[in-house]
Amino acid sequence: MKIRKAVFPVAGLGTRVLPATKAMPKEMLTIVDRPLIQYVFDEAKEAGIEHFVFVTGRNKTAIEDHFDRMYELDATLAARGKKTEMEILARDQPEAGAVSFTRQQSPLGLGHAVWCARDIVGDEPFAVVLPDELVLNKPGCLAQMIAAASELPEKANVLAVQEVPADQTHQYGICGVGKRDGKMFEVDGMVEKPAKGTAPSNFSITGRYILQPEIFKILATQERGAGGEIQLTDAMIGLSKTQKFYGVEFEGERHDCGSKSGFLRANIAFAMARPDLRDGLREDMKKYLAD
Ligand code: UTP
Repeated sequence: MKIRKAVFPVAGLGTRVLPATKAMPKEMLTIVDRPLIQYVFDEAKEAGIEHFVFVTGRNKTAIEDHFDRMYELDATLAARGKKTEMEILARDQPEAGAVSFTRQQSPLGLGHAVWCARDIVGDEPFAVVLPDELVLNKPGCLAQMIAAASELPEKANVLAVQEVPADQTHQYGICGVGKRDGKMFEVDGMVEKPAKGTAPSNFSITGRYILQPEIFKILATQERGAGGEIQLTDAMIGLSKTQKFYGVEFEGERHDCGSKSGFLRANIAFAMARPDLRDGLREDMKKYLAD
C-alpha cells in the first residue's frame, strides 16, 4: 500500500489554550524554536509523503505563510551573511506544488475537516496527521505506521495506538484488541471517550491515521456525534463494518500539545533531546525544581 498524501486538519479553534490561539493558529505554537506544524510536516516527509494537504480555516493564514518563501527575509539574511539561518529556511521549504490548502469554513469537527480534503486526496489511501499531537522518536510515528501498513492487505486502515493508564481511558478514543501479531493487532471495536470502567482496552488512538478513501462516503452523510461535531471516530466505526482496521503500537513519547500541561511538557522533552540546549536547560531547571 503506497501512501502519497497526508491531510493535516488545522481549522480547529484551540479553545484549551486561549488566549494564545485568539489571533494565532494553535498549530503555530512553538515547541523550542519550531511551530507544531513544522514538526508534523517533517514527520510526514520523513515517512515518504509526497503531497501535503492542509485543511485551514479563519485566522490560519500564518500557516500558509510559514510554508511560503519570504523574499524580504531571504534578501535581508543574505545581505547580513546569515548562512545558517538561510539554510534552516531552505530546509523547511516544501517543494513547489507539493502543498495544497483547502478551507473548512466552519469548525464542524475533525471528521468534517478530513472530508473537506476529499477532492484533493481522490481515490487513494491517505494519512491524517493531527499537528497538536507530537511523537518524539526516530523513525517518526507515521514512518512506523507506513512500514507496518506495507505488510497489510490493500484495503486496510491503520491507527497509531499507545497504552494509557486505566484511570485515563475516558479521556481518549479507545480501541478493542483482536488478533495480535507483534506490535500490530486487528482492531475489535472503537469507542470515543468511554465512560469510566467501560473501556474495551487501554489502547488509545493517537492523532495518526491511515485511511481508505471509502471513509469520505461515510463522512459525506455529515452525521453529528459527540459535542454536536462530525466525528472522525464515528465514520471509522462505520467503515470498520466493511474494512479492517489495525492498531500499530508505535515507539516514542506522545505529547498532547493542545493542552497547557502537554504543551509545556513537550517543550521540555524536545529541548532535552537537543544537544545544544540540554545541559543549560538542566541547570536552569534545578532552580525551579528545588522545592
Ligand atoms: P482538537 O480536538 O484539538 O480541537 O482538534 P481544537 O478545536 O483544535 O482544540 P480545542 O479542543 O478547542 O482546544 C484536533 C485537530 O483537528 C483540527 C484542529 O485544528 C486540530 O489540529 N480540527 C478540529 C479541525 O481542523 N476542524 C475542526 O472542526 C475541529
